[in-house]
Amino acid sequence: MKATAEAGANIALLKYWGVRDENLNLPLNSSISITLDRARTTTTVAFDPTLDEDQLELDGQPAPEAARTRVHRHLEHLRRLAGTGWQAQVVSQNNFPTGAGIASSASGFAALTVAAAAALGLELSSRELSRLARLGSGSACRSLFGGYVEWVAGTDDASSYAHPLAPPEHWPLHDLIAVVAGGHKAISSAQGHSLAPSSPLCAARVAAVERAMPIVRAALQARDLRALGPLVEQDAIAMHAVMMTSHPALFYWLPETLRVMLAIRKWREEGLAAYFTIDAGPNVHVLCEEAESPEIERRLQSLPGVRRVLHNRPGPGPHVIASENRAT
Ligand code: DP6
Repeated sequence: MKATAEAGANIALLKYWGVRDENLNLPLNSSISITLDRARTTTTVAFDPTLDEDQLELDGQPAPEAARTRVHRHLEHLRRLAGTGWQAQVVSQNNFPTGAGIASSASGFAALTVAAAAALGLELSSRELSRLARLGSGSACRSLFGGYVEWVAGTDDASSYAHPLAPPEHWPLHDLIAVVAGGHKAISSAQGHSLAPSSPLCAARVAAVERAMPIVRAALQARDLRALGPLVEQDAIAMHAVMMTSHPALFYWLPETLRVMLAIRKWREEGLAAYFTIDAGPNVHVLCEEAESPEIERRLQSLPGVRRVLHNRPGPGPHVIASENRAT
C-alpha cells in the first residue's frame, strides 16, 4: 500500500480568493491557471498497519504539527473511500527552492491525493481526484491537469472541480518568477479566503472575474498575450485590493514587489509584451512569450531587490511514478 506521485504547482491567471464553504473549499468564483513544468512536488505515501498516526516529512524535515494535521484530515477522505483505517508515512519533496515563497500547497495536495489513491488501489477519474484534491487545498484541484486549466466554482462538492482547457504544448508561455523575498507567509491562504468577503471590494471583483472568464478562455485559445495580459494583471491587482481592504487588512506586497510591477509597465511602453501576476505573497510572476523571455529574464535579474528568477513553462499533469498496490 505504497505509491509515489509527482505534480506541478500552478499560477492562476484569474484567481481564487474567497470561499463560500470553508469545509468543502467551494470558491466564490471560477478560476483559470497554468500548471508549471519545473515547480513540482514528489510525494510518497505508505499506508502501514503498525503506525499509530500519520507521519509527515517535508523537504527532509519532520513537518510542523499544523501541516501534519492538514495532511491527516486529507488522508481521512481517501481512507474512508478505501474502507481502511491504516495510518500512513508521507514523504514530500519540492523540487523548487524551499523558502522562496513559491506556493507549494497546490502541487503538494495534488501529489498527495494521486499518491494516496494509487497506494490504496482506488480507481478514480481525474475529475474525482480533482474534487478530492480541492478538499485539501482549493488551488490543488487545478494541478490535477497539465497545461491550461479551469476550476469551475460549482455550487456543491459534486460540481466544483477542474478540467483542462488546453494541453501544455498549445502555447509555450513563459512564467518568470521574480523572487523578492523568501520565507513563509504570515497569513495562510486559508485564513485569507475566509476574510475576503469582509472587503467591500470582494463582490465587485467576483463579478469582474465572471465577466473576464470567457475573454480569457478565448485569448488562451487564440494564443493572444496582448488580449490576455491586461485581464490577468487587473485580476491580480483586484485580488490584492480585496486583501488590503479586508478586516483585518492583509498586505502581501513589499516595496520590491511594486518596483517589479512598475518596471514591467515601463518595459511594455518600450514594446515588450510582459504581464505580471502575484499570488498571496510578494513575488512577481511575469508572463511572456518564448522569444522575449531571455531579454525579460535579463532585465528582471538586474532589478534591485530581485534575488533570483525562476523559470517555468506550462507543464504536464500529475503522474504516478511507482506503486506497490497489487490492485493498481
Ligand atoms: C492567491 O489554494 O493556496 O494562489 O485552499 O487554503 O490551500 P487553500 O488556498 P490556496 O489559495 C490560492 C490562492 C491564490 C490564487 C489562486 O491560486 O487561484
